[in-house]
Amino acid sequence: MSESITITDNRTGKSVEIPVVNGGVDMKAIQGLMPGTWILDPGFTGTASTESAITDLDGINGILRYRGYPIEQLAEKSNFLEVCYLLLNGELPSAAEQEKWVHDVTYHTFVHENMRKRFMEGFHHDAHPMGMLMSGIAALSTFYPEAKDIDDPFNRYKQINRLISKVPTIAAMAYRSSIGMPFNYPDNELDYSANFLSMMWKIAEPNHVPDPVLAKALDVLLILHADHEQNCSTTTMRVVGSSHSDPYSAAASATGALYGPRHGGANESVIHMLSDIGSYEDLGPFVESVKAGNSRLMGFGHRVYKAYDPRATIVKEQADKVFAVTGKSPLLDMALKLEEIALNDDYFKSRNLYPNVDFYTGLIYQAMGFPLNMFTVLFTIGRMPGWLAHWQESLEQGQRISRPRQIYTGVGVRDYVDVGSR
Ligand code: SDX
Repeated sequence: MSESITITDNRTGKSVEIPVVNGGVDMKAIQGLMPGTWILDPGFTGTASTESAITDLDGINGILRYRGYPIEQLAEKSNFLEVCYLLLNGELPSAAEQEKWVHDVTYHTFVHENMRKRFMEGFHHDAHPMGMLMSGIAALSTFYPEAKDIDDPFNRYKQINRLISKVPTIAAMAYRSSIGMPFNYPDNELDYSANFLSMMWKIAEPNHVPDPVLAKALDVLLILHADHEQNCSTTTMRVVGSSHSDPYSAAASATGALYGPRHGGANESVIHMLSDIGSYEDLGPFVESVKAGNSRLMGFGHRVYKAYDPRATIVKEQADKVFAVTGKSPLLDMALKLEEIALNDDYFKSRNLYPNVDFYTGLIYQAMGFPLNMFTVLFTIGRMPGWLAHWQESLEQGQRISRPRQIYTGVGVRDYVDVGSR
């Protein structure tokens, strides 16, 4: 039996045999067999849009590996900046490479003063931090016009470095703007995650030193969010990047995709959902409304995972460490009970619906003091290296511009009718 498939066009009796390579089949051969007949797959439920060597997902067995390293080991032994390096370069850094990388990121955390004073202060008082962050990332393209030279590897590195360095600074400014507080400058004496917390929470003290348990927990959560193969926002990054747009414009587009409640916005939706349910007594009726199709169990379900999201397991472990410092979230017991009910209910089991990364992260963020409208901002900081690694890989692959076809189902040709005759 050969590692291939054969497709026959019964209209012509012609067939084509296509080899199965790395678990996929190259469908370009279809065009030779039946020109002008397109493969329809809205939402890409069965389509691989590219080949990639960055992240390996096994949705059936709940496995996630970055460049071959299991997410469990990286969460336990690595740190976010080291994982950024791994995703971008394919290997863990040597001590010297790590020192240079950390230095390059640390000393690019400042943004242009026009960005701080005139751009970020220009938003309305109740602007959502995600809208400010998405706009700020796009605005960076106006400060670094040389970013359009995407064919120069060193220039790509500089822009990648700037995005990873400056996104926490813009994110913290978005938060401070939303509460009417002055912006904090980065503190280069702190590591990446601690510096972000300092820019978020520093008030009048000379230096803000975050609780090390909370800074470490945030760093682990950023690792868990760093990449996830061709999710909606990463696919957006690749599609926009395929037009040879600059990386800031592509990353702003990806941020827009992540903003949606079906994707990165789910962590915020989980808290709204748990708060709206209100009490234990209302858990049962809520589950019934989900099964009736009237509600969604936010933080549950996944296009790829048909088992427990391995990230959710690690998030739950981090939750215990955070709550030991902050006190337990009043919504935690509700979430645990909801999970227990769902995991034992055939509606969810038959659809392979398990907690995903978003089910518990919101509880941790809320306990750490982040307002709900900052949750997806945190996801953006975490996912930035993944977006950039895929952007860089697609350029190195020489990916053609993304331009799918469609199946036209509209009306046939007809002549124009003057308005007086309609
Ligand atoms: C992320 O892709 C990624 O990798 C994303 C992500 C990443 O790291 O980038 O992992 C991050 O986005 C996680 C997902 C966060 N979103 C949510 O938690 C929102 C709630 N989840 C769903 O909206 C849904 O599960 C999706 C969007 C995540 C997946 O959607 P699919 O694959 O298109 O699944 P579907 O909507 O076709 O659902 C299949 C069935 C349907 O029932 P039937 O029509 O067969 O009767 O499962 C049901 C759905 O109604 N279903 C749910 C459900 N999710 C799916 N029913 C109730 N509650 C849910 N959460």
